[in-house]
Amino acid sequence: MKVTIFGTGYVGLVTAGCLAHKNHEVLCYDTDNDRIKKLDNGLVPIFEPGLDNIIAEGIGSGKLLFTSSPQEALRSLDIIILCVGTPDKGSGETSLIAIESCAKTISDISSQSVPVLIKSTVPVGTSVKIQYLINKGLKERKLDIKIPVASNPEFLHEGVAISEFYNPDRIILGTKDQEVIKATIKLYEGLMPESQEILVMSPESSELTKYASNSFLATKISYMNQLSQFCSLVGANIDDVRKGMGPDPDIAPGYLYAGCGFGGSCLPKDINSLIYQAGEKGRDLSILKAVREVNENQKKYLFSIAASLFSNEFKDKKVAIWGLSFKPETDDMRGAPSLTIIKKLLDSGAKVECYDPVVSQDREKFNIQNESLRLGTDPYEVVRDADCLIICTEWNEFKNINYKKLGSLMNRKTILDGRNILFPKEAALNNFEYFDIGRTSINQR
Ligand code: UDX
Repeated sequence: MKVTIFGTGYVGLVTAGCLAHKNHEVLCYDTDNDRIKKLDNGLVPIFEPGLDNIIAEGIGSGKLLFTSSPQEALRSLDIIILCVGTPDKGSGETSLIAIESCAKTISDISSQSVPVLIKSTVPVGTSVKIQYLINKGLKERKLDIKIPVASNPEFLHEGVAISEFYNPDRIILGTKDQEVIKATIKLYEGLMPESQEILVMSPESSELTKYASNSFLATKISYMNQLSQFCSLVGANIDDVRKGMGPDPDIAPGYLYAGCGFGGSCLPKDINSLIYQAGEKGRDLSILKAVREVNENQKKYLFSIAASLFSNEFKDKKVAIWGLSFKPETDDMRGAPSLTIIKKLLDSGAKVECYDPVVSQDREKFNIQNESLRLGTDPYEVVRDADCLIICTEWNEFKNINYKKLGSLMNRKTILDGRNILFPKEAALNNFEYFDIGRTSINQR
């Protein structure tokens, strides 16, 4: 199929590369001319494992092209997929500027019938609204063509997005239009086992499914995070509790890992948006408000441990941070708990030195300017003379910690493990003070 993708962010580029790999002819359109030029030269602006390779493969085979010309983007095609950003306006309300501008481009320029799939995460009712805008534009141009709009949310996790695209656990389509259903089945042919069908529902249900899923995952995490603090007080181990809960198929093992808070571009934003959407209809999603509050507290938990260790006196203290991205295998800093921790440390007068396997290589991703803050490129170099090491992201390289080297460099041998990746006994054997999220009892500390 000839596919045009609007938007070259995390979702747009993964979708484009994977569809080109599946032999579709894919054209990526973005209004950012510089970005398109770079992509055209094979320069991928984001880090996602395997993405460089499939983009290079697509460019090499001629199946993947890039353009910043809307006329070219809408010339002769079988399907359009919208993957543009839908950021939070700050109040929880979702900005639809980019999506609405896509609708305008499509209705101003298209001259043929073609279905549109909205893959961006959009509030309930957006597909219907975009359909209305497109129909209105076509009517003004007195064009008798059909551009049906459907909802087709993505459920990709950053870091493993490519393998998940090829093996989705479900494909959801919100439409009643038979032509769109046929086109979508053709688009994703061979991705799902034959026994499984695309789940077709109303656009509203499809849009809500995305928010409901992400909010539910966030709820699981906040539940475990809140329990983890209780565990520390009563001598229970949150990791054992997780292992004991997970085998129950009604619970399922995923998203039960306690940590220093959830981040990313999806969970925090989607909770805020759903709370806002419900509020607009006079409904109080109090469960999600609690999930959000627990997460905000959890992001400050490690700082509060550090504050009690240093009796709230950070003036002459240096803290090293390992891991900046919101989770491993990505360079994405959006909503990262590390940002909350770093801000609190700097506000308290501490010196902070950070290291991240990917973010350290690209200063642009880390745009906090502060004279007490340094970004290093070697994990052991940033701990020199530090009074405390805080682990914010569970990158694999941190799991093979060299305690001897670390101990010889640090001023005070203290580790706050925000992702429970080290072994408390090993830390103790190496004479480190060690604190984690709900595995070590507060009495043992
Ligand atoms: C998420 C959704 O899960 C995915 O379905 C959706 O389509 C996009 O948003 P992603 O943003 O890539 O994916 O991140 P995810 O893997 O869900 O992790 C989000 C945050 O939760 C991270 O900060 C992670 O560290 C944290 N997390 C995750 C936990 O703290 N505990 C867990 O058990 C799982």
